[in-house]
Amino acid sequence: MVRPANPFSPSFGISPPVLAGRRTPLSDFETIFGNVRSPSYATLLWGLRGTGKTVLLNAFEDRSAAHGWLSIAVAAATPMGLLNDIAIKAIRQLEAFEAEHGSPPARVVSGVSLGMIGIQTESAVTPEPVPQGHHDLETVLSRLGDVLAEQGTGLLITIDELHVAEVDEIKQFGSIFQLVSRRAERPIAFAGAALPELERRLLSGPSGTFLQRCHRHEIGNLTMPETEVALLDPIVSAGARIDANSLRTVVDASNGQPYLVQLIGASLWDESEDPVAGIRADEAERAVANARSLYGQHVHAPVWHRLSDLDKRFLIAMLEDRGSSTIADIGTRWQHDSRSLSRYRQRLLSAGLIRSVGHGRVAFVDDAARAFVSLQALAEGWIEQVQSGADR
Ligand SMILES: Nc1ncnc2c1ncn2[C@@H]1O[C@H](COP(=O)(O)OP(=O)(O)OP(=O)(O)O)[C@@H](O)[C@H]1O
Ligand SMILES: [Mg+2]
Repeated sequence: MVRPANPFSPSFGISPPVLAGRRTPLSDFETIFGNVRSPSYATLLWGLRGTGKTVLLNAFEDRSAAHGWLSIAVAAATPMGLLNDIAIKAIRQLEAFEAEHGSPPARVVSGVSLGMIGIQTESAVTPEPVPQGHHDLETVLSRLGDVLAEQGTGLLITIDELHVAEVDEIKQFGSIFQLVSRRAERPIAFAGAALPELERRLLSGPSGTFLQRCHRHEIGNLTMPETEVALLDPIVSAGARIDANSLRTVVDASNGQPYLVQLIGASLWDESEDPVAGIRADEAERAVANARSLYGQHVHAPVWHRLSDLDKRFLIAMLEDRGSSTIADIGTRWQHDSRSLSRYRQRLLSAGLIRSVGHGRVAFVDDAARAFVSLQALAEGWIEQVQSGADR
């Protein structure tokens, strides 16, 4: 029998075979199609690396397309400038709409594209910065919103990786959005995604008002039943099998972390001699070990390399405990005043390596994080052997 192709998608931004969970953000988002005043017209998704923010934005775009809506998708780190990028894509959408419907907006489009924004929409685009902020993006979006509203549809604008945006860009986008969408009640929706560090950079202070008012969803780990669906459904749909114990092993090991779920799923396929005959327990064990090591390299390593030596010492002091650690113990081991530890604690929390577990206690976010820190500390000579830790 032909071996079925690996159904899992262990890549950032690539939609999984089964989008498990996420019922609330999806059903909230759906409300925009029936109610132009829905609070979900401005939605912000936030969560740690690899929790599934980008694929949820993709799902929002799919839902929009199913309702006949258009989408403009940008990432905040665009070299052409966030507002410019949105403006260029909006002009293209308007021109495509015009070509399809043979309607009269041509005059407006060419006026905007050539005169006002100062960019050309032919293939060789040489964008100029949008002059004096936002006048022109406002014009294009208003026009696009109007023609789509006439058709009974609308426009979704998604901005991914919002945490790297310039404060001014977000501020400008927010005021344009407010004008063209919310104040005029045009069917133009916004959905953004960001890492928790957005909180520190953009949500505090007056420039963060637009984001503060967005309908927010924290995108965290999947529940255990959701994780089981995410792993089992693709296996079954591919015509393969896994026994209940092995399934439990991989569900527990993934801890509901969506990227780890996909890595484990994909490793199961690679390790299994014959997935159709059934994935064996020893194959499941090997898949977990492989996936954890890849997860460390892809998710934790980039974070680790940006940490200061002092941040690293905080994590290494935690290795002595098998479960959670008290801040007081960390301070004692490290001979550091525990009050001054809050800075490192905060940084490691927003970097996604540790989580808070009650007053004065922290733990590694998952076993993969602990294993990664342990091996890295050994490799860099911070410790002489991998510590097994005392039970807490
Ligand atoms: N609900 C889900 N069910 C199953 N797998 C998922 C789910 N959400 C995301 N994944 C998988 O997790 C991985 C990471 O998803 P995604 O790239 O959307 O994360 P992200 O939050 O945008 O990460 P980053 O912050 O690094 O950009 C992908 O392999 C994706 O297929
Ligand atoms: Mg992403």
